[in-house]
Amino acid sequence: MLTFRAALAALALIRAAGALAAPESPAEEAIDYRHSVYHVIGWNFSPMAAAVTGKVPYDKDAFLRQATRVALLAPMLPEGFPAGSYVAGKTRAKPAIWEQRAEFDELLRALAAKSASLAEIAKTGDLQQIKPAFNELAQVCKDCHKKFREDEDKHHAH
Ligand code: HEC
Repeated sequence: MLTFRAALAALALIRAAGALAAPESPAEEAIDYRHSVYHVIGWNFSPMAAAVTGKVPYDKDAFLRQATRVALLAPMLPEGFPAGSYVAGKTRAKPAIWEQRAEFDELLRALAAKSASLAEIAKTGDLQQIKPAFNELAQVCKDCHKKFREDEDKHHAH
């Protein structure tokens, strides 16, 4: 009898777990995907910002590695914004992205181009050349966030 109850309890647990792991909609999958790519970009971008502003000592190899990663990741972003991947409350992407797609795509292309040049310039190990290239890249992040990303307090990302 005890085992039967235990089996029932186990079954209930399995059902609950199944409900939690309910498959995501394609829109939610795209949101997860772009969040993941942005997280990895941010992970590598922050230490570069710290090095450029002198908050941490500049380390040529670490910087080159981080710049190379961002250059590799940036071109993965466009596919993270398929039509219909706006889900209120789950994304900070503004619906304007899909209304002004050409402008948004242009910013994504600029991101790929600027991150590629930063990765190239980082090979020199010359911080005086790296700084302006980094600032140009950071400006693209800012321009796009200002126009196409909801402020943190208005929306919750997850
Ligand atoms: C073409 C536009 C665009 C560019 C360029 C851009 N971002 Fe974003 N970023 C967004 C949007 C839109 C979101 C919100 C995504 C969402 O919530 O679905 C976002 C979200 C993020 C997030 C948060 C991810 C999360 O889980 O909420 C980070 C971190 C981030 N961006 C970093 C950067 C950095 C660093 C750069 C520059 C190297 C950059 N972004 C360039 C549009 C852009």
